[in-house]
Amino acid sequence: MKHADIKEILISEAEIKKKVKSLAAALNKDYKGKKPILVSVLKGSVVFLCDLIRELEFSPIIDFIGVSSYADSTESSGVVRLLMDLRESIVGKDVLIIEDIVDTGLTLSYLKRNLLTRKPKSLKICVLLDKKECRLKKIDVDYTGFIIPNKYCVGYGLDYAEIYRHLPYIGVLKSEIYRQQK
Ligand code: PRP
Repeated sequence: MKHADIKEILISEAEIKKKVKSLAAALNKDYKGKKPILVSVLKGSVVFLCDLIRELEFSPIIDFIGVSSYADSTESSGVVRLLMDLRESIVGKDVLIIEDIVDTGLTLSYLKRNLLTRKPKSLKICVLLDKKECRLKKIDVDYTGFIIPNKYCVGYGLDYAEIYRHLPYIGVLKSEIYRQQK
């Protein structure tokens, strides 16, 4: 059932499920016999992480990192802050960043730079959604689910003002919902 605040369902629950399975199949091939650390970027990626790991044939270590783009800035300032660090050391480990969405690329550029200073054995990126046309910083993504248009998407971990993360699909939010808050 479509939520009343959703204009259209962009990616259905079934389509997500299928894509998660195919991403996991690629990971199962590439990480066979390895024990990578999956770094889930809070908060949006947790739904994706939970579904993804249940399709894996190897046992990953999971860890979480919290970052925030400068919230008060009207434009993307490029300032990303670390809010919560990993618990695990990643020195000499295979690391896979798990993200729900790459938009400007600022978050992932910051994270990649930050994590590489810790000398992991390898560092790759797995993203469910890619708003390719919004990129300000070039970032190479190793595993991509869907390339999506520049629309206000919520659901499957993605929020607007902390709402809608629980929706099982990716939907486009009605513009009157986010306009009325301004
Ligand atoms: C979203 C998303 C990414 C980031 C991508 O997080 O989960 O981390 O934005 O945008 P970028 O490519 O323009 O940097 P958000 O800051 O909304 O936090 P949340 O995951 O806690 O909702």
